[in-house]
Amino acid sequence: MNDLSVKHLISINDLETNDLNTIFKTAESFKEIINRPIKKVPTLRDITIANLFFENSTRTKLSFELAEKRLSADVINFSASSSSVKKGETLIDTTNNILSMKVDLVVMRHPHPGAANHIVNNTNTSVINAGDGTHEHPTQAILDCFSIREKFGELKGLKVAIIGDIKHSRVALSNIYALKKLGAEVMVCGPTTLIPKYIHHLGVKVEHNLTNALKWCDVANMLRIQLERQEIQYFPSIREYTRQYGLNMQIISELSKEITILHPGPINRGVEITSEVADSSRSLILDQVENGVAVRMAIIYLLAGRLNRA
Ligand code: CP
Repeated sequence: MNDLSVKHLISINDLETNDLNTIFKTAESFKEIINRPIKKVPTLRDITIANLFFENSTRTKLSFELAEKRLSADVINFSASSSSVKKGETLIDTTNNILSMKVDLVVMRHPHPGAANHIVNNTNTSVINAGDGTHEHPTQAILDCFSIREKFGELKGLKVAIIGDIKHSRVALSNIYALKKLGAEVMVCGPTTLIPKYIHHLGVKVEHNLTNALKWCDVANMLRIQLERQEIQYFPSIREYTRQYGLNMQIISELSKEITILHPGPINRGVEITSEVADSSRSLILDQVENGVAVRMAIIYLLAGRLNRA
C-alpha cells in the first residue's frame, strides 16, 4: 500500500502532490468496489471512527459515515446540538471523552477556523478536517479534483474558475491549493467585496465579470453565498448578486465552447445557479457527491494504514 506523507488531513497545503495522486488511485479502486452488488470490504474491521459534527452538514456527514461503513469500521456519530456541549463542555474535553472510548480516528466539522488543528495539538488522535469555518474543506477539494480528473483525464493545464463567495468559502481555499498542486490554472470570480485581499498571494487570476470568467475557463466551480458567515452585507441584494453572478443557460449558450459545471452543494437554485444549469448534462454535481464516498474511503483507508503501523 502507498503511504501518505501526513498522519492527519487538516489542510491541502500539508499534502504533497504525490499524496493527492495516491488518494486518486486508491479512490478509483474503491469506486469500482462500491459499484459492485456487494459494496463493502472488511479492511477496517478493527478501527473505530468518531464523526464529530459541530456544524450542520448533509453531504459530508453522510458521505463519511457511508465511507466508514463500506470499509467495515465501527462508527459513532456526535452532533453538537444534542450533546453536553450545550452544558458548557469544551471542545478538548468533549473530544478526549470520546477518545477514551477507544476511538482511533476523528472526523471533525466545526464552525471555527483552526478547530481541527486545535484537536491535533491537544489530543493523541488522528484527525480529518471535514470543514473548519471559513478555513478549509480538504476532502471536498480532493473529491472536486477527482471528479474533474475523471472527466478530463488530468488537471495539468486545465483552466478552473471558482465563482461566488470566495471570501467566506473553505471550499475555495482548499480547491485553490489542490488545483495548483495538480497543475491547473485557477481564477476566482465574484464581487470585489467577496474576494479576500490576500488572494494575489495564492497565485490565482482575479476576475469580476462572470462572462469573462466563463470565456476563460474549462470548468466553473460555482459557490453559494455563505450568508450564515456574513456579519455585514457584502452586496446590495440577492437579486442584484444573481443578475451579475448567477449562472444561467442563456450565458452558457452564448459561449463558443462547452464548459463543465461543479458545485459543492448545498445549491441555492435560482441564486448562484439556475435549476436548468444544475440539472444539465454539463453539471457534475451528483458525480461529485458519488465520488465523495470513494474519495473519503481512500483517505480513511490511507490514514488508518499509518495508524496501524504507529
Ligand atoms: N459540500 C458540503 O460540505 O456539503 P454539506 O455542508 O452538506 O456537508
